[in-house]
Amino acid sequence: MDTKENKLYFGNQSAEELCSKYGSPLFVYEESVIRNQFRQLVDNFTYSAFKVHYAVKSNYNPSILKVLLEEGCGVDTVSAFEVRFCLENGFKADDIIFTGDNSTDEEMQYCIDHNVLVNVGSLSQLERLGKLKSGNKVAVRINPDIGAGHHSHCITGGPHTKFGIYHDQIGKIKDIVAKYSLKLVGLHSHIGTGILESQSFLEAMDITLGVAEQIDTLEFVDFGGGIGIPYKENQTPLDLVDFGAKVSLHFEKFCDKYGKKLELKVEPGRFLVCQAGTLLATVNTLKETPAHQFVGCDTGFNHLIRPMAYGSYHKIRNASKVEGQQKEIVLCGNICESGDMFTQNDKGISDRAITEFEEGDIVAILDAGAYGMSMSMQYNMRSRPAEILIDKEGNNSVIRKRESYEDIIANF
Ligand code: LLP
Repeated sequence: MDTKENKLYFGNQSAEELCSKYGSPLFVYEESVIRNQFRQLVDNFTYSAFKVHYAVKSNYNPSILKVLLEEGCGVDTVSAFEVRFCLENGFKADDIIFTGDNSTDEEMQYCIDHNVLVNVGSLSQLERLGKLKSGNKVAVRINPDIGAGHHSHCITGGPHTKFGIYHDQIGKIKDIVAKYSLKLVGLHSHIGTGILESQSFLEAMDITLGVAEQIDTLEFVDFGGGIGIPYKENQTPLDLVDFGAKVSLHFEKFCDKYGKKLELKVEPGRFLVCQAGTLLATVNTLKETPAHQFVGCDTGFNHLIRPMAYGSYHKIRNASKVEGQQKEIVLCGNICESGDMFTQNDKGISDRAITEFEEGDIVAILDAGAYGMSMSMQYNMRSRPAEILIDKEGNNSVIRKRESYEDIIANF
């Protein structure tokens, strides 16, 4: 993303040109950003047996999967359809981990049939997997009693979350593993998402390794995803140089003690794709109430639910004139609910100073590459936007067509 002549550009074309070429609203992804993010991880986690599994749930567009596959990335999946889609898009079974939550027997059976490792998050699921196929390989997700995240809905460790087997239940895990002669090859924990400090990751790592040393059949330890990105102008990214070095050194020492060089896995979603994505929309309405100036546009929480779901902050630019006279506004969408606003905080509506909008301007909502399109919906019978990819040369192409009326009614 660039600014030329006061307009926002993506590769060789401006946001305005892209919207007139492909229609509005539009998700735009920059391939170079995804590759750079991936390489930052690999460069900073200096431990030699290091493997990244992209959390497909954050954005499952196959062109994005292809970019990451080319980089040598594996995948973290949460449903049988995600597993199937990854297999169909070139990932080898060995590079796929299935960490479903409250999965059905059918989902686990699908993984067993396709040699995809199941990472179970409850004792009952472990028992069911054993019944489905004794002797099978398995990984377990523990809850390390530590959680973190940008919102209470996004914390996945500690006593108030449904995820994982509590770390002190390792005895019960071992009993079930022995009962069904399962081979416990992986240990996993994931404490939450949108985390910008390393302390909680490192504490959870300690607990996880404390469990790992009680299992003697491990091939890998997976520390989950969760690395945040600086959504706000004043936020600083996690210091990846320091974090990568600390985790690598710590793991190296653990493996020396363990007596075997295990694989170190992480499974980021947001970190890899979030900053690569921008949601473009067209401003079509300006109005005021005694309290606020509202700017209305042709997208809404149906395409990016994060501000409404979590009060999340996304940077917003006037892509038609980046610099200029600013005005405090509320940016809202075209969905028939009052919560349909992009400028919100944890208490709701929040005015924001942005370069003044006129009808017809293109608005850019930044950092929309993760949990944007993948959480989108057809509420109000509105279709999902097209997605386009800007390649390394700056050229653009469609990687998902805009939905049509026929697409929406296809299953009726
Ligand atoms: N591994 C597991 C087991 C997960 O549950 C998740 C995310 C990830 C990895 C990837 O986390 P990441 O690196 O992307 O933080 N809709 C929310 C985020 C939900 C994340 C769910 N699990 C949001 O928009 O903030």
